Amino acid sequence: MTLNAIRTVAVLGAGTMGNGIAHVFARYGYNVILRDVETRFLDRAMETISKNLDREVKKGNVSEGDKPGILGRIHATTEMSEIAGADFAVEAVPERLDLKLSVLREADTLLRPEVILASNTSSISVTTLAAATRRPDRFVGMHFMNPVPVMVLIEVIRALQTSDETLQTTMALCERLEKKPVAVNDAPGFVSNRVLLPMINEAAFAVMEGVATAEAVDVIMKVGMNHPMGPLELADFIGLDVCVNILDVLYTGFGDSKYRACPLLRKMVAAGWLGRKSGRGFYSYPG
Ligand SMILES: NC(=O)c1ccc[n+]([C@@H]2O[C@H](COP(=O)([O-])OP(=O)(O)OC[C@H]3O[C@@H](n4cnc5c(N)ncnc54)[C@H](O)[C@@H]3O)[C@@H](O)[C@H]2O)c1
Repeated sequence: MTLNAIRTVAVLGAGTMGNGIAHVFARYGYNVILRDVETRFLDRAMETISKNLDREVKKGNVSEGDKPGILGRIHATTEMSEIAGADFAVEAVPERLDLKLSVLREADTLLRPEVILASNTSSISVTTLAAATRRPDRFVGMHFMNPVPVMVLIEVIRALQTSDETLQTTMALCERLEKKPVAVNDAPGFVSNRVLLPMINEAAFAVMEGVATAEAVDVIMKVGMNHPMGPLELADFIGLDVCVNILDVLYTGFGDSKYRACPLLRKMVAAGWLGRKSGRGFYSYPG
């Protein structure tokens, strides 16, 4: 599939990432088929997209008059068969291997053979996912960052089987969305999480060992290293459960003890202190 032939994009999963991905494609003129398993998830996604567009209008990035057109380009559906008309597809269902494999296999049977199928996985082997389809050379990782409409980076992950053409088309498509794609080869944690998670983990160890408070660690990294967010503030934003899962992927993927998740992180997850989403992590989030 050539870049110019891509007009309609299927997005599988309308959660945190899926609604952002749909938003961005629609904003740049693509028709979007947004699929989730229940209407209430789709309604919530459309509400979020509408609110996020209002924010972009306020910032002057989108004109008020364009908003209805952008929303109108998104067709929300629970019917998987409707993705058959798509020219490109991005999967953004929860990070569970069994679920991803079944959704990708089903999508593979519905999409035309020339269509590229991308996964937004943040930690599962893209090579393994590609192998589950009949289009492994037209399979690629497209790791958007959260929140998608705001974050410019897309880590494009090349599976062992990904063809040059698939990689190039995907990179060019990211640029059409005014994003900055960076290509990397498939490896546990890719580059983003392989570099980020050990820093978050080390910050948690420093707190666990009583070297410093969470606030002190974050101030040191923000003021001293010019990071816009401290590592523990960022861990709360990502979700401490997600952090532990990614560390486990690095630990088992490399078989290297340097990726061992900090016991304090595991304990906080066991307590249900997952960060922002549960109201408490390294910091408290009242309300
Ligand atoms: N949240 C992040 O910060 C972030 C960042 C980068 C990548 N990711 C990755 O993006 C993917 C999605 O994460 P999320 O945070 O958006 O999850 P989420 O739980 O917010 O959303 C997932 C959505 O998929 C839907 N879903 C479940 N089964 C489905 C199916 N069979 N068909 C269609 N939809 C289905 C769910 O109902 C839900 O609405 C994961 O692979 C995750 O690792 C997440």
